[in-house]
Amino acid sequence: GKGGYEHYMLKEIHEQPTALRQTLRGRIEHVTGDISLEDFPEGTFDGIRRVQFVACGTSYHAGLAGSHFIESRGVPSQTFLASEYAVSTPPVDDETLVIGVTQSGETADTLSALRRANASGARTLALTNVIGSTAARECDDALFIRAGPEIGVAATKTFSSQVASVSLLGERIVRDVVGHRSEDIEAVLSAFADLPDHVQQILDFTKAHRIAKRYHDSDAYFFIGRGTAFPVALEGALKFKEISYEHAEGFAAGELKHGPLALVTPTTPVFAVFDGQNDEKTLSNVKEVEARGAPVIAVTSDANETVSQHVDDVLTIPDTHPDVAGVLANVQLQLLSYHAAALLDRPIDKPRNLAKSVTVE
Ligand code: M6R
Repeated sequence: GKGGYEHYMLKEIHEQPTALRQTLRGRIEHVTGDISLEDFPEGTFDGIRRVQFVACGTSYHAGLAGSHFIESRGVPSQTFLASEYAVSTPPVDDETLVIGVTQSGETADTLSALRRANASGARTLALTNVIGSTAARECDDALFIRAGPEIGVAATKTFSSQVASVSLLGERIVRDVVGHRSEDIEAVLSAFADLPDHVQQILDFTKAHRIAKRYHDSDAYFFIGRGTAFPVALEGALKFKEISYEHAEGFAAGELKHGPLALVTPTTPVFAVFDGQNDEKTLSNVKEVEARGAPVIAVTSDANETVSQHVDDVLTIPDTHPDVAGVLANVQLQLLSYHAAALLDRPIDKPRNLAKSVTVE
C-alpha cells in the first residue's frame, strides 16, 4: 500500500534515504576509498577504452550523470538516447562497454540499443532495478541498483539510486582503465555516505510546496543547469511536465541565449540548478532571464550566499561534493513537481498517455 501517503510517488520520494542506503550498503568504504561491487572486482574492465550509456527518459538523465562522472576522470564516455542509438549505432568494438540504464529492464528502445551494441561486438552491462529482467538476462553483466519496487509511473527513488550506482561503477571502470583511483574519490565516497541523511534533511525542511503554490499560475516552467546540474535541469522539467501537464523545458544554462531566451517572460519562472562548481557562469545566465522579468528560483547549497542574494526564492540543499549535489537538487525538484501536480489535482501515479514500462519501440 501507500503507507499513509496520498500517492505512491510521494511515498517513493520519501523512501529515498532507505533506497540509497540499500544501493550503497556494503559497496563503499569511504575512509579508505575502497569500492566493492559484487560481480565487478578490480580488473573487471581491463581492456575497455570507452564507455557508452544508452537509456530513455529519467534513466537517460542518470546516464548523462554517469558519462560526466567517467569522462571527467579521464575515460572517454558518452550517453545516447536509446531510440536514436538503435537507428544509428555509433562505431563500437570489443574495447567498448555499453551500459543500458533501465529501471525496469524491459524498455524496448533500450533493449534494442543493447542488442545493436552486442551485435557490433561491444561488451554490454545492464544497470537495472529488476533482477531477472530482460536487460539483466541478455547483457554480459548486470549491476542492480537495489532501490526496491517503484510503483508510481514517475521515476523518483530509482533516479537517485541510478546516479549513486553509475558513480560507483564509474569509479571501478576508471580505476581499471586509467590504472589508478580518482584523486577526489574519498571526498566523493564520503559525500555518498552522507547522502541518505542529506536527502532526509531536504524531506524534513523543504519549502517546495510553498514555491509550487507561489508560481502555480504560470505560463511555462524552465529549468537550467550546467555541468552536473544540466541532467538535473532536464530531469526536473521531465518530471514537471509528466505529472502536472504544464509546459516545462530543461536547458543547458549556456544555451538559453541561443534561442530559448525568446520564451522567457515575467510569467515563466526559471528554476536554476547550481552544483557548486560552475556557479558564477550559471549566475550570469540567471541575470539574463531576470532582465526579462522572469522570477528565478535557485536550487543551491545553503552555503552559497552569492546565489541566494541574486534570486527571488531558494530551494536549499546541504553542502556536498558537486558530483553528488545533483541528486539532492533533484529531490527538491521532485517535490516541486509533486506539489504542483497535486495543486492541479492530477492523477499523479498514473499520468495520462504514459506507462511505467514502455515495451514498444
Ligand atoms: O524502466 P526504464 O528506466 O527503462 O524507463 C525509462 C523511461 O520510460 C522512464 O524513466 C520514464 O521517463 C519515467 N516515467 C520518467 O519519470
